[in-house]
Amino acid sequence: MSEVTTHIYYCDNPAHAIEDALASAGAPQLFVVADDNTARMCLPLLAAAVPSVAAATVLTLRPGDEAKTLSAAESLWRQLTDAGATRKSMILNLGGGMVTDLGGFVAATFKRGMPYINVPTTLLGTVDAAVGGKTAVNFAGLKNQVGVFAQPAATFISTCFFDTLPERELLSGYAEMLKHALLEGPEALAAALDCDIIALDPATLLPLLRESVATKERIVAADPTERGLRKALNLGHTAGHAIEELALEKGALVPHGYAVAWGLVVELVLSHTECGMSTQWLYPVAACVRRLYGSMPVECSDYPRLLALMAHDKKNTSPDTTNFTLLEAPGRPRIDCTAAPEAITAALDIARDLI
Ligand SMILES: NC(=O)c1ccc[n+]([C@@H]2O[C@H](COP(=O)([O-])OP(=O)(O)OC[C@H]3O[C@@H](n4cnc5c(N)ncnc54)[C@H](O)[C@@H]3O)[C@@H](O)[C@H]2O)c1
Repeated sequence: MSEVTTHIYYCDNPAHAIEDALASAGAPQLFVVADDNTARMCLPLLAAAVPSVAAATVLTLRPGDEAKTLSAAESLWRQLTDAGATRKSMILNLGGGMVTDLGGFVAATFKRGMPYINVPTTLLGTVDAAVGGKTAVNFAGLKNQVGVFAQPAATFISTCFFDTLPERELLSGYAEMLKHALLEGPEALAAALDCDIIALDPATLLPLLRESVATKERIVAADPTERGLRKALNLGHTAGHAIEELALEKGALVPHGYAVAWGLVVELVLSHTECGMSTQWLYPVAACVRRLYGSMPVECSDYPRLLALMAHDKKNTSPDTTNFTLLEAPGRPRIDCTAAPEAITAALDIARDLI
């Protein structure tokens, strides 16, 4: 298990900080892992400003979660081996969560671990995947089935790659920002609800990213390997994953963050009915989710399947109970909550009315 020793740098333009970090690490070889999109849209920006990146060996992946596989990891291990990489070489992951999860996994396992740094290029990667030290590949049809905890040596957070990011990717990341704000407290939640993520200028966005990441860092530092408090970060995800999987079964892919946003509303309703959370925050969050993500693609006839999917969530510790993280109030998460099927069905009904 690795310690939480990551340095997180916040910069309008990360070039100098990255160059300095690479120089002080003194790695004999640098490998940049990117997907085809980030290699095309983000790498030139970085290579133009960071000589070590311009001179690095670039290893590219196909974009999308389908590429987050053991065979992609094997291909990277092979390319590192052929290029003579050692435990002192460095990997720089340039991309969204797919790249940082896979590149981090490859770095953590190659020769029992080589250092890596993350330069996230999506909003979701920035506020979530690139921090916290979870690395993984998908396996046997299951998401993140094989992986390790391994902290990056450093993570560089900036808004400089967001110009090319499609709106739906921005919205996907914003759902995780909303979740962090709900876990942080009323003030952070009010600020998150107040911001227009699509129209935000970089100078306004950077401090919001810092606050959002600080919430995740605080929780991860208290519980790096998810024995307790880190489960709070699953808020919205039990219902969210089920909605995502249901959509997949119906042949309609919904972005992960959209499903999390709908899942947050379902779980805030449950927070009200099961933990007594006031509706004061439920209504504005539901209104925000309705405005940005539209209505939840769920019919009454889907409830039995949704309940079954929630019961099979990998966070459950027993096959008979569905595990949720709920809130007593913004900033007061309660982990390891369970809810009866009738309560979950009622929450789905109310959430569908609200959004
Ligand atoms: N490790 C963790 O704690 C953690 C947390 C949350 C999610 N994840 C993982 O993160 C992944 C999802 O991350 P994601 O949403 O960033 O997806 P992603 O990495 O697949 O990126 C989404 C799309 O955006 C493109 N892209 C990336 N940066 C771009 C840019 N600047 N401009 C234009 N296009 C760009 C990518 O090529 C891809 O097509 C999943 O695999 C999920 O399991 C991990």
